[in-house]
Amino acid sequence: MQLIIDSANLDEIRELVDYYPIDGVTTNPSIIVKEKKNFLQLLEEIREVIGCKRELFVQTLADHAEEIVKEAKYIRENILDKLVIKVPVTKEGIKAIKALSEAGVRTMATTIYTPLQGYIAAKAGAAYITPYVNRIEKLEGNAVNVVKEIVQIIEKHHFNSKVLAASFNNVQQVHDVCLVGAHGVTIPPDILRLCFSHRATEANVKVFIEDWQKEYGEKSIVD
Ligand code: E4P
Repeated sequence: MQLIIDSANLDEIRELVDYYPIDGVTTNPSIIVKEKKNFLQLLEEIREVIGCKRELFVQTLADHAEEIVKEAKYIRENILDKLVIKVPVTKEGIKAIKALSEAGVRTMATTIYTPLQGYIAAKAGAAYITPYVNRIEKLEGNAVNVVKEIVQIIEKHHFNSKVLAASFNNVQQVHDVCLVGAHGVTIPPDILRLCFSHRATEANVKVFIEDWQKEYGEKSIVD
């Protein structure tokens, strides 16, 4: 199951890649603009931080299929290695996903709100299907069910796509989609840290060290 970070912040990415088993980084136009940097330069810097073996997901901006394909080509000419082109699943987006897939370009179908959008995107050849969990919940939809049903459609009908759930606002949402079979999650740095930390774990470690120090006076088991 893939673990991806939702961020374009180099310091955050550097820290998280160093500490956690991260498979890649995903961006979108709203995430990119927060960094106030040149687009391609920022992508190159992210690539340098994550190395050539982790996936980098980059989203197109255009709203017509031909333009989306052109943007995908531009990104691919400049950013090498494991690159996935993110395309929102509008009608034009699906046309672009179909064309890019036919040309052998790996795509992520993003901004997914329903299982049938997921089905059409998988059928069009998207490598990743990305339901927007928190945004679905904000519309009072059952996001976990949407993720579960897309997983079912993909597995039952043997599509090659993977469900990479996105848009998380709390730990419970991540927990729930893991249980219904999402093939991966893309999580913002603050939620990722919350997923992992537990005050009882920190407290236990403190006691282990205190017990050891009381007996041996040292803070390490190494002489
Ligand atoms: C990732 O692919 C998405 O762009 C991202 O998770 C969206 O998150 P948001 O709904 O918190 O903006």
